[in-house]
Parts: sequence; structure tokens; C-alpha cells
Amino acid sequence: MRREPRVKTLRIDDCDCAGREDQTVLDVARENNIRIPTLCQINGLTNVGSCRMCLVEVKGVPKLLTACTTMVWEGMKVVTNSERLHEYRKMILELFFAERNHICAICVANRSCELQALALELGVDHIRYPYLYQALEIDSTHDKFVLDHNRCILCTRCIRACSEIEGANTLGMMRRGVNDKVITDLNQPWGESRTCTSCGKCVNVCPVGAIYEKGLSRTESRREHTFLPYLTIMRGER
Ligand code: SF4
Ligand code: SF4
Ligand code: FES
Repeated sequence: MRREPRVKTLRIDDCDCAGREDQTVLDVARENNIRIPTLCQINGLTNVGSCRMCLVEVKGVPKLLTACTTMVWEGMKVVTNSERLHEYRKMILELFFAERNHICAICVANRSCELQALALELGVDHIRYPYLYQALEIDSTHDKFVLDHNRCILCTRCIRACSEIEGANTLGMMRRGVNDKVITDLNQPWGESRTCTSCGKCVNVCPVGAIYEKGLSRTESRREHTFLPYLTIMRGER
């Protein structure tokens, strides 16, 4: 028989909150209207904790924890907003901008980009790190979509949507570190993929302008997220 999840009481900033033991700090914060910046996380897909934007301080824990993958515990005391966290989040954003070629003025996602929006929110007005200026390929072989590796922040949202929701498993990740790359099938051109159903779910979840529909700017194309609660329903989560 399925056991009902226990309720935990915790403090997030100045708020005394309650959450179920199967909820993350991010879930409970959102339920209590406490904003924690996120990038790789999107409701409806598995949380992977890869971008580190949602780092929080937890009393008694020496390292910073990712709110999207840390489950709540009894008596937990969480700080979501401090000078230290602000500096870390800014640094993470700057590293994203330095790693690949994010030139907002010529990007299809200009003004509908989550990376750009976070940079504005957190006051990133210059980059303190040397730009890598990687010259990466653009795969435009698919009939409908384009994958521009220059703008990819390696959040894996597209990979998770393709695998967890569409079940096609077309997308994957190759290599490590700065050489990471989203690939289709066994690193064939996307247009030659035999598994892609052209559903467009990857396009809809990409937070930046790395995957987009041909002939449309991201600002023009409507981002459809109605398929995202599917996984939550299938798992019987609340
Ligand atoms: S269009 Fe659909 S099937 Fe094809 S790569 Fe994107 S999510 Fe996967
Ligand atoms: S293509 Fe978009 S969704 Fe996929 S990993 Fe890159 S930034 Fe994330
Ligand atoms: S949103 Fe939590 S690590 Fe990316």
C-alpha cells in the first residue's frame, strides 16, 4: 500500500512553510511565492540540477545546494537571497555568456530568452571572463527545425522532453565539459534522423535560441507547454 508522504516544516527566508517530504525546496518556495532563479528546471520534466542557478544556502550545510534537486527536511532553514548567492548566480550567468556565442541582437530568441531575462534580472551588464568564441556548427538539415550549437547552454531540457514526453530518444549529449554537444541519434545530421517524429517538443522547451522553428523568430512562435504535465500524471505525482 502506498504510504502518504509526510509533511515537513521548514523556514525559507522569513517564511515558515510546510511541504511534503517528496517536494523539493524549489517546489515549496514556489508554493509560498518565494522566487528562486532557475534555468535547466522546467515543471513537467525530471529535475537534473545541471545549471546551478537555483543554488541556496541551508543552515548547517557547508556547501550550497540546488533547490530544484534538494528535498525538504524537517527543521530545514533555507536562505534563497543573499549577497553570496547573488554573486554566484551572476558568475554562473557570465560563464554561460563567455562559453558560447550569445549575441542577443541577432538571435531568434531576443526578448523571449530565459538566459537574457535572468541576466537583466540579476544585473549582468558585463562579462568578467574571457570569451571562448567557439565556432560551432549549425544543423539546419531538419525540414522544420534548426539546432544552433553556438547558443546552446547544455541545459538538457530538449533531451528530457524528447525522451520523457515524446519517447523518441532522438536527442542525447556527446563529450564532456566545454566540448559537450547535443546530438541527434548517433551524431547524424538531424535531417537524417530515423527516430525524430518532428513533434517540436524540444523547440518548445529550449530556454534560449538554440533550437528554433525555421522561418519564425522565437518571439513570433508561441511556446507550447501543454504536454509538460504528462510525466507528472503518469508518475502519479501531485
Ligand atoms: S522534434 Fe520531437 S522527436 Fe524530434 S528531436 Fe525534437 S522532441 Fe525529439
Ligand atoms: S538546445 Fe536548448 S534545450 Fe537543448 S540543451 Fe541546448 S539550450 Fe538546452
Ligand atoms: S534550476 Fe536548479 S540546477 Fe538548474
